[in-house]
Amino acid sequence: MDKYIVKGKANIKGTVSVNGAKNAGLPILAATLLAEGEYEITNIPNLTDIRTMAKLLKNIGAEIEWGDGKIKIKTNGCENHEAPYDLVKTMRASIYVLGPLVARKGEARVSFPGGCALGARPIDLHLKGLRKLGANIELKHGYIYATANRLKGTGIYFEKKSVGATANILMASVLAEGETKIQNAACEPEIAALAEFLVRMGADIKGIGTETLIIKGKEKLHSANTSLIPDRIETGTLLLSAAITRGSITVEDCNPDHLGIVLDKLEEAGFQISTTENSISLNSKGPKHPIEITTNPYPGFPTDLQPQFCSLLSTIEGDSSILETIFSDRFIYTTELQRLGANLKLNENELIIKGGAKLSGAPVMASDIRAGASLVVASLYAEGKTEISRIYHLDRGHDKLEEKLQKLGVDIKRIK
Ligand code: UD1
Repeated sequence: MDKYIVKGKANIKGTVSVNGAKNAGLPILAATLLAEGEYEITNIPNLTDIRTMAKLLKNIGAEIEWGDGKIKIKTNGCENHEAPYDLVKTMRASIYVLGPLVARKGEARVSFPGGCALGARPIDLHLKGLRKLGANIELKHGYIYATANRLKGTGIYFEKKSVGATANILMASVLAEGETKIQNAACEPEIAALAEFLVRMGADIKGIGTETLIIKGKEKLHSANTSLIPDRIETGTLLLSAAITRGSITVEDCNPDHLGIVLDKLEEAGFQISTTENSISLNSKGPKHPIEITTNPYPGFPTDLQPQFCSLLSTIEGDSSILETIFSDRFIYTTELQRLGANLKLNENELIIKGGAKLSGAPVMASDIRAGASLVVASLYAEGKTEISRIYHLDRGHDKLEEKLQKLGVDIKRIK
């Protein structure tokens, strides 16, 4: 298993560009199952999760060809309507094939995703939505068996905003008969990117980017090409990496509009931010202040950036807090951060960060993608050497992170 060895007290200065968004790529790859034909998706990051989704499509019968930063997919045939346990257990987003398969093929067999490091992660909203569209769903032997003749458009109100359920139901409804209205839909940029891709495939979707989506189902769609939007979580992680070293950075090829509240919080903490249409610059001049963060669905503060923000706030004098409202076990990373010297106190879903800690390098372990990213961010500030193991978690969501940090002046090595 690979490890990172990071020499601390880094001083980041420089320019870096971000890769395409994993969380846009995953549903878009699954959406290619909705119509046979040839697809080309560019700005594809080289990540384990993207490779897992490609494997899943191949298992279903798609032909896949990888190029440099692009993937070509041919979805003719695709007669094996199954997402097996072996793949689903490594990536929950495998559930994204459920909607497209049942909509186009009238049948799907998808392993039921279990819990994960973020706690219980139910899929009741996905299943309730599909049932409402007319699918028959049975759970047996650890699998979801979904069957349908043509799905039928309907009204769906999500009790809770869910990125995954919105994507799945959106993909199913584009081939349903008649109109579907999804209320309380997730508004994440990755959902808008999926919807735009579906429109390129011939779907009729109104309200893209809002919490009400109106879909007029089509009998058939066609293949299309697209380029993935920039990864806003990677963008934030790189900004936080520079911020914790009190350095300066310009992140290019990103979309500042997707990081509104994150940039606000960095400014509130005392960093200077300037943006162009596709870049964000941060510098660290001036006093720093503790802040309060509450995670929320987009455009609220992203839960996927709170662990990395916690590392930064540990280094700023005063009490900061993070209230987590999305995932019950998101704070699992805090025990490893404490090994580096962070002073953290957890009260249920609120973390109090006693700032101004003197972090020092130690052996630590990543427990999920963002937990791993928070350890990398903290290691940049820590005195001495930090050894981060289980970085296969980071490889699920960060393309060549060490190379990017090396170019920014960080002494970070991957040990095989
Ligand atoms: C996606 C992202 C993940 C991010 C999360 C929240 C991908 C591949 N993953 O995950 O990185 O952290 O959004 O922004 O895009 N819920 C239910 N029932 C359901 C579905 C969800 O109760 O059927 C709950 C979840 O437990 C959670 C909340 O809804 O409390 C939001 O989860 P959701 O938006 O669905 O997260 P994911 O799509 O799994």
